[in-house]
Amino acid sequence: MRSAGDGTTKAGNTVTDTATLGFGAYFTRHMITSTWRAGRWTPLQVTDHAPLVLSPAAMVLHYGQAIFEGLKAYGQPDGSVKLFRPRDNAERLNLSAERLAMPAVPIDMFLEACTELVRVDADQVPRGEWQSLYLRPTVIATESNLGVRPSNEYLFMVIASPVDHFFAGGADTIDVWCADSQIRAAPGGTGAAKCAGNYAGSLRAKRMAVENGCHEVLWLDAKERRYVEELGAMNFFCVRATKGGEPELVTPPLSGTILPGNVRASMLGLARSRGVPVAERPITLAELIGDPAVKEAFACGTAATVVPISAVVTGGERHRIGDGRSGALTGALRDDLLDIQFGRRADPFGWMHEVTLSAESMS
Ligand code: COI
Repeated sequence: MRSAGDGTTKAGNTVTDTATLGFGAYFTRHMITSTWRAGRWTPLQVTDHAPLVLSPAAMVLHYGQAIFEGLKAYGQPDGSVKLFRPRDNAERLNLSAERLAMPAVPIDMFLEACTELVRVDADQVPRGEWQSLYLRPTVIATESNLGVRPSNEYLFMVIASPVDHFFAGGADTIDVWCADSQIRAAPGGTGAAKCAGNYAGSLRAKRMAVENGCHEVLWLDAKERRYVEELGAMNFFCVRATKGGEPELVTPPLSGTILPGNVRASMLGLARSRGVPVAERPITLAELIGDPAVKEAFACGTAATVVPISAVVTGGERHRIGDGRSGALTGALRDDLLDIQFGRRADPFGWMHEVTLSAESMS
């Protein structure tokens, strides 16, 4: 097998320059699948990464039963490869499954699928700075039927993509456009699930953000359109100066409309371990753009890791956050996270999950 640098597949495409992997354009040679029928999952299968055969009446195409996860495998200095918090992804997939009336994927099966794919494609884990292998576990409804009800058949699959920067060119900071006439998630809806429909419904706003000179969408709550909830497909944080001048890390609470991100949870853990006070409480747009105590803001997620926000565009005006550059706490938390993920420092939290590789893949 060849390495990502000289031949990873993309249904016909080839990586020729690992300096420009970008995000999600290339795929490793294999995929893992299992099908759910008559109330059980079949044993996991390793196959070539190849197109699916799907009925045009497959229920996912009509009623959108599709859920997914995103997690990364990181090359370590000793040649090994580790996954970041895969069990948390397995648990979240099952929360999404429950919300969309889909069958759960047993945690051990999820972990085995992810580790097996990393094992068979270990030589395609890119090793450059910022580079990792992004895994995309997905479950879709495959029964051929137009009845409006949960499908009786599903496909679970995991594919892998060697990646580096999520934002083109590895943007140091992003500008965000406030979507005040569109919402991402309403109370009682599917906002906390990682389902395809949430992303479909966000794409028009994303296009409008770009048309307004921004990288991403700042989502407000559905009810009052006052509170900041999420940032594109990522979680949102800001850093406030307390009365004593020390920083406090603030993020909106998980209230059913926000995706419970692994990186979000990790940011909270890392801040606490630095002795930085954290608060999960509502943040208004007015506070974000108008309160001088807000010194920094950032978005975080598996794909993009941690991205500082330089400005918010709303009502046709551009409001700079802090000095418009990456803030000190944002940078420190991002470095803490990356150092653990890339094995540059010990992992006191037990977040990294080693994938046992053959001696050949380690060399
Ligand atoms: C992730 O950070 O993994 C996300 O959820 C964004 C993704 C949809 C590209």
